[in-house]
Amino acid sequence: MSKICVIGLGYIGLPTATMFATHGYNLVGVDINPKVVESLKQGKIHIELEHEMNELIQKAIKSKNFIIKSKPEDADVFIICVSTLLNEKEKKAELKYVISATESILSYIKKGNIIILESTSPPGTILNVVVPIIERVISIKDVYVAHCPERVIPGNMLKEFINNDRIIGGINKESSQKAKEIYESFVKGNIYLTDATTAEMVKLMENTYRDVNIALANEFAKICEDLNINVWEAIELANKHPRVNIHKPGPGVGGHCIPIVPWFIIEKSLNNANLIPFARHINTSMPNYIVKMLEEEIKHIKNPVITIFGVAFKSNIDDISETPAIPIIELLEKKNYQIKIYDPFVKKFKYNLSSLNDAVKDSDCILIVTDHDDFKSIEINKIGNLMRNKILVDTRNCVDYDKWKLNGFKVKVLGIPEKEKNKNE
Ligand SMILES: NC(=O)c1ccc[n+]([C@@H]2O[C@H](COP(=O)([O-])OP(=O)(O)OC[C@H]3O[C@@H](n4cnc5c(N)ncnc54)[C@H](O)[C@@H]3O)[C@@H](O)[C@H]2O)c1
Repeated sequence: MSKICVIGLGYIGLPTATMFATHGYNLVGVDINPKVVESLKQGKIHIELEHEMNELIQKAIKSKNFIIKSKPEDADVFIICVSTLLNEKEKKAELKYVISATESILSYIKKGNIIILESTSPPGTILNVVVPIIERVISIKDVYVAHCPERVIPGNMLKEFINNDRIIGGINKESSQKAKEIYESFVKGNIYLTDATTAEMVKLMENTYRDVNIALANEFAKICEDLNINVWEAIELANKHPRVNIHKPGPGVGGHCIPIVPWFIIEKSLNNANLIPFARHINTSMPNYIVKMLEEEIKHIKNPVITIFGVAFKSNIDDISETPAIPIIELLEKKNYQIKIYDPFVKKFKYNLSSLNDAVKDSDCILIVTDHDDFKSIEINKIGNLMRNKILVDTRNCVDYDKWKLNGFKVKVLGIPEKEKNKNE
């Protein structure tokens, strides 16, 4: 049985290691964080993953086929899954973890090894960063090197690991083929082969496509408000066209990839990237737009209390990475508003979280930032009775606002003008 060493046991590395450990490989999982190693050795999972994935990880660790270590060891395959953060100041990829992870396997690399980088990376990282490090200890002709970007979505990882198509780009055809054979152990989707730099670009293009299209939807929302048009209705109708797929507007873009990855393209081709940085600007300015929209609704209230509903970056999960809720809260705090926060999923946050009743008690306005399903079934009358003023500002168009109005709420929804044009006029 071949042995795989996975470097980095975070959101991507831990589930990836588990998939291989449960599909015929001996697996050594390595993390430099001693807390991660200790907790996994005891079968405790240090990150929030979906229930099925947690069970599979625990099963793999119990089976002794998945060993947790703090240092790499000899293996047939090395898979690097460390983070590639954004250097906020320079707006460039921070490759220090990829570099140190590649360096950490140098003493163990031998002829015939397959080395795969899964971490999201700017185009050219494999050829210009990873390969030169490997060449310090072995001729590149003696090993196989490939990029296999990860595109699963948190919350539905298990299904996506198995069913998603994958892109694999090797430094040569043999490397692509060797890497493909490894992933075929559990991937049921198609595996497409290309070169390493194209594979890097493909992952960045996917996330950037989403960012640019969300920016377009956000711009449509602002324009529609200006022109007295309901943007949600307009988008729904435009999407009836067979080749149109307008995204949803909202308070900004969060998550592990979409708000970060476009910068990895921009940094590599500054003179040509015009639309991509502009789309970033539109999306990062949405919290400001939302706060102004909210202030318009509460301007008549003295010392208003605002209740934020939802701080996760997207619906029905507890993940707060890059959530637009943080810039919104920061802006509100700067303006000295009193804020209370309720999120039925998130347990840990940099601001205090309250129960539903405490969050709405004596509040003047609810601001929906995340479209959790729980908000659809909330007892409107009950929470309305606890509030001082009944105002709802919804940045996601995620609740039945007619019901809220029937319960005495004044409602403002992003992209729906105050006096919506009478279509029959
Ligand atoms: N999280 C996602 O939803 C997602 C989705 C697609 C792609 N990605 C990409 O996958 C990559 C990994 O992201 P993540 O979310 O798993 O990151 P993460 O921060 O959750 O995990 C990274 C882990 O690597 C460990 N680490 C860092 N340097 C190390 C080293 N030298 N040796 C051993 N361990 C080391 C850290 O301690 C940490 O536990 C990133 O490039 C990210 O862009 C993430």
